[in-house]
This record gives sequence, C-alpha cells and structure tokens, in this order.
Amino acid sequence: MRRPRRNRRTQGIRSLVKETRLSPDQLVYPLFLVDGEGIREEVSSLPGNYRLSVDKAIATIESSLERGLSKFILFPSVSDEHKDKRASYSFDPGNFYLQAARTFKRRFPNTVLISDAALDPYSSDGHDGLVKDGEILNDETLPILAKMAVEQARAGFDIIGPSDMMDGRVGTIRAALDHSGFTNTGIMSYTAKYASAFYGPFRDALDSAPKTGDKKTYQMDPANRREALIEADLDIGEGADFLMVKPAVHYLDVILSLREYTDLPIAAYHVSGECAMLHAAARNGWLDLESAVEETLLAIRRAGADVIITYFARDLAERMV
Ligand code: PBG
Repeated sequence: MRRPRRNRRTQGIRSLVKETRLSPDQLVYPLFLVDGEGIREEVSSLPGNYRLSVDKAIATIESSLERGLSKFILFPSVSDEHKDKRASYSFDPGNFYLQAARTFKRRFPNTVLISDAALDPYSSDGHDGLVKDGEILNDETLPILAKMAVEQARAGFDIIGPSDMMDGRVGTIRAALDHSGFTNTGIMSYTAKYASAFYGPFRDALDSAPKTGDKKTYQMDPANRREALIEADLDIGEGADFLMVKPAVHYLDVILSLREYTDLPIAAYHVSGECAMLHAAARNGWLDLESAVEETLLAIRRAGADVIITYFARDLAERMV
C-alpha cells in the first residue's frame, strides 16, 4: 500500500522531503528613511518597523547583516516642504534618500540595495504620476522617472524599482540607465501591482496617501489575473530583470501564473497590510505569530516566488541563524 505518511514520520524525514525552503538569501527587508539624525520612530501599524534616519539605519543594516540578511529596499519619508507637483526633490542629487544610499554602499558594499522609482513620496498630490486637471499623466511623468532612476543608479542602488504601474516605465528607465553608462544596474519591475486595501500602514509610514481620488487608473484591478500576463509580456520586452507581484498572499495565483509564464526571477511583496493583519491577530492571542509568519512566507515561495520582500525578514533571519 502507498503510505505517504511514511515520509512524514520523523522531523528528519520531513526535512529530507521538504519541497520549499526559506533562506535569508531570498528575503528583502524594507527600510523607511527620514531626513535628520537620531530618529527611530516605530510605525504603529507595523510593530518592529521604524522610520529611521541614516545613522540609525546603519545600525539596523549592521544587525541585519549579522543575521545573514543583506538585501534592502529603501523608501523615503519626505517632509512636506520638499514636496511639489513635479516631485523635483526626487532627482535632486543632494536629497537625503540618495545620500543614504551612497553612505550605505560605501559602508556595506556587499549589500543589495533596491530603490523605489515613483513620484508619490515626493509629490504634493500624493500620486505616483504628474496630475493635471485631476488626471494622472502617463507619458509626461516619464522624464522625471528617468532622471530619478539615473540618480539612484549613480548613488549606488543595485536595482531600480519602478513602482507606479503606468505604461512604458521599464523601457524608458532601461534606455536612460544605459545612456548614462549604468548598463549593470538592474530593474525590478512592479509588474502586477494591484489597487489594494493592504497598503494602509505603508502610506501611514510615509504619509504618502493620495490627496484626492485613488490609484485605480494605474494600479491593477484585484479582479484580474490575465491582465498580469499582459503586463509581464511588456516588462519582459522592455528589459526587466525581475518581475514583481504585489501584494503577495492574496495574489498567489498571479505569482504562480507568472512563474509558469517566464524564466525571469519573480519577486513577491508581502505588503504592510498583510503584515499588520498577522500582528493584530497575534496580539489578540488568536494565532501564533512565529508559525503563522513561516507558513505565510512558505506559501509565497511555494506559489513560485524566488524573492520575498517582507517586514518579517529580520525576525525570520534571526530565527534561521
Ligand atoms: C508606492 C508604493 C506603495 C507601496 C510600495 N510602493 C504604496 C502605494 O502604492 O500607495 C506599498 C508597500 C506596502 O504596503 O508595504 N510607490
């Protein structure tokens, strides 16, 4: 008789037949950066995650490296005085975000730094693109993104992360990078980023919620899976090095579809709201955080993600060393 339970009998046998594994190598930890010094403010809806000034972020990176975690995606929390309609601070080489990347790369050359290339943290409208008469402009935003991406590459980012879900981003950024000599800087495209209710804590952290309207004319409709393949097709054609699905847990089918569609590495962004849900339930004593987190991240890997961006990266890496 076939008895599948034989392979589940002991911890040793179970570990032998494990199909999916988690390793700190595949995890990316998001860092929220602020201008200033000595700042370490916890994001209330993301326990254990902080808005950090560069000096404090250095300590976080150091302790992450001790845990074997060396990949970081950086987001800026920009004060209102630096925001304008054209997001001009985003490509100012002296801005604190680019300075931070320079500092981190100099000090920790073996880290992998991923940028965020979108207007929203720098825009007084809180949208990812230029806004004119209530419309979010597609092509007019491209030159700003190109300048931002080139400055990010110059500052030392290894991978540029165009995150606005508008059209023609990857191609334009690739051309701009190549033109400026950054042929070795990669692009992790937010290929299938959905207009999701699960970004709330992130927007609190960065104070980056749209001032009017929502992001439904550029981010994807949660109802759609096939459309993700159209996006994938375009990003591959335009030269993306990684494709990303975001959020992760609620879009495992999309991760699997992309995995089967392309041989490019797939990244999944386990977003702020997905993280906050687990914390909230655990704080109520309704589930065990450690095992729920491990199961969640395993599920994302099982669906086909090579890379997971998660606020739990540090906790998980700590448990693995
Ligand atoms: C926008 C951006 C968002 C996130 C990453 N980049 C939010 C948004 O689209 O409004 C969300 C990440 C998270 O919720 O953890 N450039």
